[in-house]
Amino acid sequence: MPVDNSMEQLRSTALEELDACTSNLNLQEWRVRFLGRKGLLTGLLRGLKNLEPLERKVVGSEANQLKVFLEGRLALAEGRLIEQETLILGENDRIDVTRPGRLKKGGGYHPLTKIRREIEAAFISMGFQVVEGPEIEWERYNFELLNIPKNHPSRDIWDTLWVDYRNERGERNMLLRTHTSPMQARIMEQEEPPIRVIVPGKVYRYEATDRTHEWHFHQVEGLAVARGITFADMKGTLYEFARRIFGSDRKVRFRCDYFPFVEPGVDMSIDYLAPGATTHDWLEIMGAGMVHPKVLEGVGYDPEEYTGFAFGIGLERIAMLKYGIDDIRLFFDNDLRFLRQF
Ligand code: FA5
Repeated sequence: MPVDNSMEQLRSTALEELDACTSNLNLQEWRVRFLGRKGLLTGLLRGLKNLEPLERKVVGSEANQLKVFLEGRLALAEGRLIEQETLILGENDRIDVTRPGRLKKGGGYHPLTKIRREIEAAFISMGFQVVEGPEIEWERYNFELLNIPKNHPSRDIWDTLWVDYRNERGERNMLLRTHTSPMQARIMEQEEPPIRVIVPGKVYRYEATDRTHEWHFHQVEGLAVARGITFADMKGTLYEFARRIFGSDRKVRFRCDYFPFVEPGVDMSIDYLAPGATTHDWLEIMGAGMVHPKVLEGVGYDPEEYTGFAFGIGLERIAMLKYGIDDIRLFFDNDLRFLRQF
């Protein structure tokens, strides 16, 4: 076959195959096949050495022109491909700068965190300090130093979750605290009066759950000890707390109650209308009382010199009243539909 025929053949095959290229990878393969060092055009040029000098010159010049021509076509095809890819990208990722931005939902505080902070602020403004204590506690602090001896029936008030641990005498004496009251003894052991503290924290009880009871919940303990503190100081402080949290119109009720570590003991309830109910009811929000002389003696205080009051508020109960929630279990379900309301 004459060389110029081969050249014509090469040109049309090259153009045909170039048209079929749809990706950059195809184009690079095409370049290697036709224009590469071992490509078809180079092969054709190598064949020139068998031609007559004059003919070699003419055909050589045509071959070079074909090379330049094909390189030009390759550049054009590459340009077209980039253009197409940009167009596709533009279709999918088009940005409309006039559209309003997407609202990103930020995180928020859990309703119990909000209530804890409100309670803390109320007591801080009355001169109380905030401290924290351990959730895993010794029996001595949870019971004994609070005038609740071993095997005493009053222990039945709190169904206890014990830690699987025994001391050197084989006794089980470590537990998940059933209330925040052990911090009363811990603080008094370490500090001299006057004392005015609150202790927010988690507590655990081995008990069945219902609408107003959880097996793990939060309390805020309070303790004030000094010379001359009276029951009237306690009532005044707790009324003021209720006024700050629920407003001055809300009805509050004190009733006698029994806790081994206070004498006299009371509980405080708040008037409420449960969602869907037609009559008002009372919801107990805390136990309280004057610190028992035996507790003061147990931590080395002289009960003739010092008196004090203590209280333990149920945090979830306050949140239920404030937010009109009728089931305590909702706080721990982690259901975003519930949590986003706050
Ligand atoms: C106590 O735990 C005492 N330590 C409170 C106290 C402190 C009395 C200092 C005197 C002096 P009680 O078991 O009643 O008491 O719990 C106190 C409050 O925690 C209750 O009024 C209630 O608001 C809340 N509470 C009690 N049990 C549960 C429960 N299972 N689920 C949710 N809240 C509860």
